[in-house]
Amino acid sequence: MRKTSIITVILLMASLVARADEGMWLPSLISQRIADMQEKGFRLEAEDIYSINQASLKDAVVLFGRGCTGELISPEGLLLTNHHCGYSQIQQHSSVEHDYLKDGFWAMSREEELPNKGLTVSFLERMEDVTDQILRGYDPAMSEAERAELVKKNSQAVIEEATKEGKGLRATVEALYYGNQYFLFLYRQYEDVRLVGAPPSSIGKFGGDTDNWMWPRHTGDFSMFRIYADKENNPAPYSEDNVPYRPKKYFKISLKGVQEGDFTFIYGFPGRTQEYIHSEGVRYIEETGDPHKIHLRTLRLDIMNRHQAQSQKVRIQYSSKNANVSNAWKKWQGEVKGIRKMKTVQTKQEFEKAFDRWAKGGEFDGVVGKIAKIYEELEPYQFATDYYAETVRTVELANFAMSMARLFVKAEDGTVTFDKAKADELASTFYKDWYLPIDKESFIAVMNEYEKNVPAEFKPAYYKDKLAAYGSINAWAEDMFTNSLFADPEKVGSLTETDREAVMSDPATGFFNEFLKWYAADIQPVTARLNQELQLAYRDYMRGQMVYCRTQRVMKDFYPDANLTLRVAYGHIKGYSPADGVYYTPSSTMKGIMEKDNPEIFDYNIPQRLRDIYATKDYGRWADATGEVPVCFIATNHTTGGNSGSPVINADGDLIGLNFDRVWEGTMSDIVFDPDICRNISLDVRYVLFTIDKIGEADYLLEEMTFTE
Ligand code: ARG
Ligand code: GLU
Repeated sequence: MRKTSIITVILLMASLVARADEGMWLPSLISQRIADMQEKGFRLEAEDIYSINQASLKDAVVLFGRGCTGELISPEGLLLTNHHCGYSQIQQHSSVEHDYLKDGFWAMSREEELPNKGLTVSFLERMEDVTDQILRGYDPAMSEAERAELVKKNSQAVIEEATKEGKGLRATVEALYYGNQYFLFLYRQYEDVRLVGAPPSSIGKFGGDTDNWMWPRHTGDFSMFRIYADKENNPAPYSEDNVPYRPKKYFKISLKGVQEGDFTFIYGFPGRTQEYIHSEGVRYIEETGDPHKIHLRTLRLDIMNRHQAQSQKVRIQYSSKNANVSNAWKKWQGEVKGIRKMKTVQTKQEFEKAFDRWAKGGEFDGVVGKIAKIYEELEPYQFATDYYAETVRTVELANFAMSMARLFVKAEDGTVTFDKAKADELASTFYKDWYLPIDKESFIAVMNEYEKNVPAEFKPAYYKDKLAAYGSINAWAEDMFTNSLFADPEKVGSLTETDREAVMSDPATGFFNEFLKWYAADIQPVTARLNQELQLAYRDYMRGQMVYCRTQRVMKDFYPDANLTLRVAYGHIKGYSPADGVYYTPSSTMKGIMEKDNPEIFDYNIPQRLRDIYATKDYGRWADATGEVPVCFIATNHTTGGNSGSPVINADGDLIGLNFDRVWEGTMSDIVFDPDICRNISLDVRYVLFTIDKIGEADYLLEEMTFTE
């Protein structure tokens, strides 16, 4: 049977009119949406957003680090992203003496800008549909594994060709619509990225994890970096000789202000969504996956919070770790609530029933049932995987032991080498932020849950034997955290290549390694096989959903799920009603900071300077028409993790803000988007400028920016 080509379907779909602001669109195909964007207020053209012939807005947007977005705001490589995106860099440069997290940091000259090992930013040079090249040689008789092999081989060839010429080029080939389509993404990656400024956490993380994922919000969540290049403006490793990067394009900053109803456009790198999944996939997330993961993280967070409250040192050591654990923990709670409220499982089941009836006898016959069956088989393995990830893999000591063990290499003739320099580096990073009592108590807490909730047939023999020998998780912890050589920095410091045996038989290494071996042998192959089957079935189901919606005249716009590639999401500034009797207006001001201000509560204790400024209303040029300094706003743009730090752009293509979060009631938008409730949260750029100017007193930075009023 001839399969309906995805291109045909997409072209036909494009004629459907959009209603809601749902969607994360591919920049290179934005000409298909530009009419809708313009109708909603945008005043520029598709070529202004993405072009391979001229500088366009895409040239001012970067993938920041491994999972955030940043944007260029000056001709001298100055970059804006979130405070929480630069957090680990700010923390790395911090100590009790120089606590940049607490006090903020401002380089007062180029020389004071701080280099960051391992931090990169990537510009998208171009993207291109390479489906034909990637599927060259494909034969429908191939198994999914054979197809995957072919895709991999062809991708490598495409990537090699694309990166042949030019410095710092990096390319990936990404599957869209479950592999119905493939795109090449070619990036230029810069690796000398220096910290320029960050507000104190009492501004940059104001409201902390209490306000995280919530509206109304008053967090000044930004930090600034500068990209450096060699004299030819090309990527180069850190060097004193490097010079500020000169971007093809940078954002002008709008001081015009924002109002309800204004057009907004987010340009960034959303990480992962699953908008087209089967009801069974949603059911697992809602009933099993999320609730268990939430519970395990509650236990760990309680332990961290208690110790962090007792010691300034521990508070700094675990600030980044705590934020990471707590972020998804809170999001999952909102997600479960949202999925329930939307009755997503039920809605999807009804859709699947209708789809199945329609599909009888055709190309998509039975695909819905097939997916359900695969999920059924997958579920216990998925559960074991989730549990493994949220328990065993979270033990810091064991992770460290394993990464040290990997530095011992045994050659065929039996000689052992040990990378001492690397070991010293790993050890100093690890011990700087490790607090044994937290790690040990967490081990006890999560492993007790593991014992209780994971079925015996999904536990490794190693685990069962050890537990029997120790008698209890507590006794196990006692042994591991007392007797592991990795619990002792001095022992670790004096390791040599003769210690390989000791390292391999260490209780912490053993714990990590034995679980890893079990996972690799008993779990991973099964989940890999089932996920491959699932992938294949989804490829048909995805195409089927498109054909179905078109032929049945179901109004739905299709966009590829997020996969950390550059996307456009547009919408408008809008309040929302999260519950009966409650309505939230779309913007917040400094007045709200003062209302939350509380010296007794760490997350709400603002710098005295901010209080003084508020008292004297010394706002400079940064107040809005009502005389208040605007802080945050919400809009209907469809965003997800990875969109943090994304530029929020107005109808004229100028920067009005910085995306950093979503509202809690709308976090199910990774699975199902509700235009009434789903809102992204952005920092108003005027609060950024106010903070640089009045709090950081780094107003010289403003001189390199361009403002539109
Ligand atoms: N929720 C936002 C995101 O997903 C911000 C996280 C950082 N802030 C925090 N308080 N943990 O990344
Ligand atoms: N804070 C998220 C991030 O780091 C963005 C919020 C979201 O998930 O939408 O990307």
